[in-house]
Amino acid sequence: MEYVIEMLNIRKEFPGIVANDNINLQVKKGEIHALLGENGAGKSTLMNVLFGLYQPERGEIRVRGEKVHINSPNKANDLGIGMVHQHFMLVDTFTVAENIILGKEPKKFGRIDRKRAVQEVQDISDQYGLQIHPGAKVADISVGMQQRAEILKTLYRGADILIFDEPTAVLTPHEIKELMQIMKNLVNEGKSIILITHKLKEIMEVCDRVTIIRKGKGIKTLDVRDTNKDELASLMVGREVSFKTEKKAAQPGAEVLAIDGITVKDTRGVETVRDLSLSVKAGEIVGIAGVDGNGQSELIEAITGLRNTDSGTITLNGKQIQNLTPRKVTESGIGHIPQDRHKHGLVLDFPIGENIVLQSYYKKPYAAFGVLHKGEMYKKARCLISEYDVRTPDEYTHARALSGGNQQKAIIGREVDRNPDLLIAAQPTRGLDVGAIEFVHKKLIEQRDAGKAVLLLSFELEEIMNLSDRIAVIFEGHIIATVDPQDTTEQELGLLMAGSMQKEAGKANG
Ligand SMILES: Nc1ncnc2c1ncn2[C@@H]1O[C@H](COP(=O)(O)OP(=O)(O)OP(=O)(O)O)[C@@H](O)[C@H]1O
Ligand SMILES: [Mg+2]
Repeated sequence: MEYVIEMLNIRKEFPGIVANDNINLQVKKGEIHALLGENGAGKSTLMNVLFGLYQPERGEIRVRGEKVHINSPNKANDLGIGMVHQHFMLVDTFTVAENIILGKEPKKFGRIDRKRAVQEVQDISDQYGLQIHPGAKVADISVGMQQRAEILKTLYRGADILIFDEPTAVLTPHEIKELMQIMKNLVNEGKSIILITHKLKEIMEVCDRVTIIRKGKGIKTLDVRDTNKDELASLMVGREVSFKTEKKAAQPGAEVLAIDGITVKDTRGVETVRDLSLSVKAGEIVGIAGVDGNGQSELIEAITGLRNTDSGTITLNGKQIQNLTPRKVTESGIGHIPQDRHKHGLVLDFPIGENIVLQSYYKKPYAAFGVLHKGEMYKKARCLISEYDVRTPDEYTHARALSGGNQQKAIIGREVDRNPDLLIAAQPTRGLDVGAIEFVHKKLIEQRDAGKAVLLLSFELEEIMNLSDRIAVIFEGHIIATVDPQDTTEQELGLLMAGSMQKEAGKANG
């Protein structure tokens, strides 16, 4: 059997933790091999070792049967290994083609041969069905397209082994479908792929084999056709996982959030939220369903004080809060689990213990007369870290050193613990493993049952359907329908989201 990649007995330690403890991974040529494991299991670390970003303490790597030392990403490139990171590394002001050839420019008489570069990029794009425009500026293209630019970049450098670290976490359902097709095209052309994902459905759909790791140790490698979602979930977390969330009927109380006819412009000055009205009551979860780019980000930013409104009102518990500062909004009783945890969620170079109490650091008991009581703060932090199962060596570890999913759990713990009247959860389970998703869903329902208003934004229709008591469908900046999840289907929701079906006007603001 021909393996393109063999990682044998890999050990990688960080201060206080063994991230990879004797892990084995063997990837066959032409397969899509999934790497599955809980948040913090050691998946990204293992791939960073393969890509030359980390040096393992022990173990051996073989590429196409030959023992190698991969001491830098350049070395990895030379060996035909490319990695598509979750946080893209593109230059915004450059075109796609310029980004792709960066550092590898084709030259003609000592000058960069732009025409040839664009042609080469176009050829690769055509070959794998990437459908990307080499001349487009990175700043003007969607996240999905930026990801394709990253894929093209590795291909342009001759990669035939591609590592994808949670590529679908940032994509919309439609973009995910397209990426799956691209991956199939890649393996059909002889490439091999290692795919990290928490979405078991994706593994069942496109992967050939799957290697499961738990707490830094390799558990098993399976043929995908011999397994199923339930088995994968329990192998990965070491217990049974329920995919359906249990909840009682909602007991909605007084109106907590009332949005009346707001209009909001995006960064380019385009009105992306138009005359939008929405209401969320105490004790209910309202889910916002919509195709990305229909104004949902601007709506959340307007509610949380990150963006001004041009008209209309946002009322929280009877008080107008539109156009207040984010801190004033927070203090008026809103908790916010943000979409982009790096931009708005965490200070990466601060200890996780300080991050987890960040929103309240200027209040008692953490501060009195302008002095921070670090002892109190860390005591609280330790409680939250344990309650929300944030896997970290200790509370002093910088947020940057935590795995993606554990950063997210810390933010959720912080926002829920502040006990806000309105909790805004934007993509709360993005990047979380199935066990952690189950936990977060329980927490959100607990908040609802404690009489809080919860506003949920998610691209996962299943999540919207499972959690929401009412679903508001957003289309072109407007709530075009409000439906009861009990009497709708994912198909109907999909049609509404695409704007190709209108609910009777009477129901629109229910
Ligand atoms: N640079 C680092 N310094 C210190 N510890 C680190 C560093 N990178 C990762 N770790 C630790 O190593 C462990 C494995 O982390 P890793 O990022 O590989 O997890 P993961 O499986 O990718 O999880 P997730 O699904 O949440 O992304 C974690 O406990 C993490 O805190
Ligand atoms: Mg990771």
